[in-house]
Amino acid sequence: MAVDLLLGLQWGDEGKGKIVDVLTTNYNIIARFQGGPNAGHTLVFNDTKHVLHTIPSGIFHDNAKNLVGNGVVIDPVIFKKELDKLELHDIDYRKSLLISKKAHLILPTHRLLDAASETAKGKAKIGSTLKGIGPTYMDKTGRNGIRVGDLEMENWKDKYRALANKHEAMIDFYNVKIQYDLDELENEFFEAIEVLKSLTFIDSEEYIYQAQKNGQSILAEGAQGSLLDIDFGTYPFVTSSNTTAAGACTGLGVAPNQIGEVFGIFKAYTTRVGSGPFPTELFDKVGETMGRVGHEFGATTGRSRRCGWLDLVALKYACQVNGVTQLMMMKADVLSGFNQLKVCTAYKYKGELIKHLPFNIESENVSPVYSNFDCWKEDLTKMDNANQLPKELNDYISFLESQLDIPIKIVSVGPDRKQTIFR
Ligand code: GDP
Ligand code: IMO
Ligand code: MG
Repeated sequence: MAVDLLLGLQWGDEGKGKIVDVLTTNYNIIARFQGGPNAGHTLVFNDTKHVLHTIPSGIFHDNAKNLVGNGVVIDPVIFKKELDKLELHDIDYRKSLLISKKAHLILPTHRLLDAASETAKGKAKIGSTLKGIGPTYMDKTGRNGIRVGDLEMENWKDKYRALANKHEAMIDFYNVKIQYDLDELENEFFEAIEVLKSLTFIDSEEYIYQAQKNGQSILAEGAQGSLLDIDFGTYPFVTSSNTTAAGACTGLGVAPNQIGEVFGIFKAYTTRVGSGPFPTELFDKVGETMGRVGHEFGATTGRSRRCGWLDLVALKYACQVNGVTQLMMMKADVLSGFNQLKVCTAYKYKGELIKHLPFNIESENVSPVYSNFDCWKEDLTKMDNANQLPKELNDYISFLESQLDIPIKIVSVGPDRKQTIFR
């Protein structure tokens, strides 16, 4: 069976965790393919909110296996905290959680390097989550990284020491003030490593190949969003992995011709956390309302998310780069009662009207051109059937479908698992 993909089409936090949880009933295996604890995926059911960072969002379902793929970077300390939280909810993760031996480890000094690099950048900082993502992927591509499979080797601690020493020299090089107690960080790290070692490490590409051959259904779960992709995002204000569809092939070892459906998730508006260009950002009361009603605070860092109108130019680009076959629109409920909605349908760029994403979308280069829409007034949060959706929302959906030429199959009307309308 083909491997289906689910990924974010904006700057992350589209609601991926919620939808993976909803779709897990249809799949045998949920596999994260990139990113690490910079992600915060929120699931809500039975009046309880859960936030996952590294663990795939299928973990609350008894029958699914949850794989952390080779493309993911794992911080053992954060991973252990996630496991502790699952234990509080009596989740028996030992039989369902699998970890690729080829996944790279985030060391305490990777986190410190992230902090040093961001501090040194000053105003030009990326706005990183400071989880050590960039430095860990740098060591991966620089061929210096430590992988989960290395933990089974006797000499891995020597390798660790050499790398941590090098990192300390690099931190000095940045010449910024970073307070840390490495002994303390290492105690916590080595303790967490022992917990990690009690889990099941596998050759995940072989596992997926065999699972596919045996007719098992697999859903690959993306983290971050397409506009944070290292190649196709708003570089340098991006993360350090390929968040787009191709990342699922390299992050799991799945061949491109084995990809089935590509589910693309977007909010009915746009948010971004951290620095970087955002053409449709709102600095007024309307943006403030989106943030307040939508509870737009980062699930990992608690930072306020910047809010703005839906950007169809960027969304079309993301659909193109990913080969999206089905769309899911999230948080339509947040816009209920707005006076008017705007959707950016083109950019003014160097005096010209363009409909594609140019190299540079900083506000000096690009200004959005909007179409206006009437907004729905009804509270959507109790609706459970597509027939109940108000006319204005149906008009909004039809417009987006006609512009993107891809069907919107799910409309999400609240954070809970149950607040999901299939079309
Ligand atoms: P992810 O990183 O893509 O999994 O998304 P996050 O969990 O970081 O952010 C999405 C936020 O929106 C979370 O707080 C979700 O509980 C919430 N959410 C998801 N879908 C909806 C929806 O349809 N309506 C509302 N109001 N909230 C939603
Ligand atoms: P999920 O999976 C939103 C952003 C950070 C920063 C940039 C680089 O929950 O959608 P990094 O820590 O990777 O060095 O940060 O990317 N970022 C996210 N924004 N959702 C995420 O993940 C993000 N992961 C990273 O805010 O701007
Ligand atoms: Mg998130």
